[in-house]
Amino acid sequence: MKNLSEHSIQPLLQARWSPYAFDSGKTVDAEDLSSLFEAARWAMSAYNDQPWRYIVANRKTDSVLWEKILASLVEGNRSWAQYAPVLALGLVSPEFEKTGKPNATAMHDLGAASAFLTIEATARGLAVHQMSGILPDVIRTTFPAAGSLQPVTALAIGYAGANGELDEDIAMRDKRDRIRKPLSEILIHSSL
Ligand SMILES: Cc1cc2nc3c(=O)[nH]c(=O)nc-3n(C[C@H](O)[C@H](O)[C@H](O)COP(=O)(O)O)c2cc1C
Repeated sequence: MKNLSEHSIQPLLQARWSPYAFDSGKTVDAEDLSSLFEAARWAMSAYNDQPWRYIVANRKTDSVLWEKILASLVEGNRSWAQYAPVLALGLVSPEFEKTGKPNATAMHDLGAASAFLTIEATARGLAVHQMSGILPDVIRTTFPAAGSLQPVTALAIGYAGANGELDEDIAMRDKRDRIRKPLSEILIHSSL
């Protein structure tokens, strides 16, 4: 797997990636896991509304909740995420807490919080693979506490590693080159 950066970036950002193969035998320490969500907590957000919410389960300590989150994923994601020792769901509160008006950047802010979480994970040797392939109706039924929150993503968290139980075609995905659009395409107007 190759990483080709056009310009230098911080090593932690360069090291982050989204593995399919998780080492299912390697559990995640509770203190590390708390720090991941603490990092998410300190993300910036519009009006400091902090619209992100998470449901998280460490299979080691709560396999029932972990199974519920696994059942909230589409089949294609379940096939590999079943080996992640920690699973989470990312939800947003779609209205500002203070005004009740729609928060147009709620999902953006969840993304920022999950990015913070992911970088904290990378610093601790952990990996995070986010998913949009979730079953929102199942999540709303399974977790009544989600109320009017909008389910947006799932997160598989654990240590990347060889996993002989993965189907060959899925395992191969971890060997693909990591490609990105060139800077010239994403900077649609620029005077760098
Ligand atoms: C919001 C979001 C949703 C994603 N949804 C899925 C998904 O449902 N299934 C999956 O296998 N990967 C999913 N991914 C992982 C992306 O495919 C991955 O981040 C992308 O290919 C870039 O690879 P990298 O994270 O290793 O740099 C998702 C990533 C993000 C950020």
